[in-house]
Amino acid sequence: METSGHPTGSYVDQLLRNIHALVIGDNSGELASYIPGLANADPDQFGVAIATANGKLYSFGNVDAKFTIQSISKALTYCLVLEIKGRRDVFARVGVEPSGDPFNAIEFDPRTSRPYNPMVNAGAITVAGILRDELGRDAFDFILTRFSEAAGRPLELNEEVYLSEARTGHRNRAIGHLLLGMGALSDRCEDAVDLYFRQCSIDVDTLSLATIGATLANLGENPFTGKQVFDVSAVRDTLAVMFTCGMYDYAGNWAFDVGVPAKSGVGGGILGIVNRQLGIGTYSPRLDRNGNSVRGLTAFKALSDELGLHAF
Ligand code: DON
Repeated sequence: METSGHPTGSYVDQLLRNIHALVIGDNSGELASYIPGLANADPDQFGVAIATANGKLYSFGNVDAKFTIQSISKALTYCLVLEIKGRRDVFARVGVEPSGDPFNAIEFDPRTSRPYNPMVNAGAITVAGILRDELGRDAFDFILTRFSEAAGRPLELNEEVYLSEARTGHRNRAIGHLLLGMGALSDRCEDAVDLYFRQCSIDVDTLSLATIGATLANLGENPFTGKQVFDVSAVRDTLAVMFTCGMYDYAGNWAFDVGVPAKSGVGGGILGIVNRQLGIGTYSPRLDRNGNSVRGLTAFKALSDELGLHAF
């Protein structure tokens, strides 16, 4: 197994080695296979990385292994749409209330007939629709550029996963049509869903995730490059919604046990942020029934306990 990290080193290096040892024997959970392209992942891989808001990076395990960002993209596109469209307009179209439902639920807030929040598929597809309306055909390039600036390296679309999801994503297409029927999307709902499939199919690695996290933790400025990537007030709103809604129907447990804003993806990644301090990325593709990485959950709990990261 290819690993990176220092044989000796700081307290944090040692902690990441210990976390690796803690989780590596746990082979429970399943790869996501409802998107056929995801079933090709190596189930045994695990990587963990911490990037600080003042530009230090610690990592251990398969931290260069590529995986698709999937639902973690929802937090970042929400941050971008808040900047482009303004919080009031976005709030009129997508709520900020935890749904307690699975990520792909066909449920809308009955009080408002809007998606509950931008972290479930219905909300993220609506956000993609707003970005598509505002930016037209350039929307994906815009997203890819900003994600890359946050990661501090050029990211790319995983064509195979994109095509695989585009071929099989009937439930998301159904959600798109329901949103169109409710007036939440403009009449190009296919474009919104296609943009959503593309944003989910961007390849990242654990180091990129941690760096994206450090950019959010550092008020939107990538601490390694000095580039201001996200709008400060949009970062505040994004972290708030990640805290309450980022882990779907596990969000309450996560807030209880780990206590930091986070977002998971069915590619096996989890992104966590300690405001003003750290970005944390984990990767391990076996998922629990909520769609969260099994080893990632254990790793985050241990990190939170060891480093005292819990907000309360
Ligand atoms: O829409 C989907 O089903 C996927 N593109 C993303 C789902 C996802 O990552 C949920 N996260 N745990």
